[in-house]
Amino acid sequence: MSAKLWLWVNQVAVDVPAGANVAAAVARAGAHFRRSCGGEPRAPLCGMGVCFECRVEIDGVAHRRACLVPAREGMRVRCDD
Ligand code: FES
Repeated sequence: MSAKLWLWVNQVAVDVPAGANVAAAVARAGAHFRRSCGGEPRAPLCGMGVCFECRVEIDGVAHRRACLVPAREGMRVRCDD
């Protein structure tokens, strides 16, 4: 059995397996990652840091690429609603 860790996505507690990235946590929470200038919801496309479609705020720092950041216990993630 793999270890779990808990973090917050838009103030909702979400658990992910240890080793998961923030993009997995956001997807598990069912949240939108961000919205385009036109208001359309965006989601990860490349999964390797190139497209910037997965940008979220992590622990108060804006525009972090969720696909590149390992999830940590207690992390606070904020996405566009
Ligand atoms: S999914 Fe493309 S940069 Fe994260």
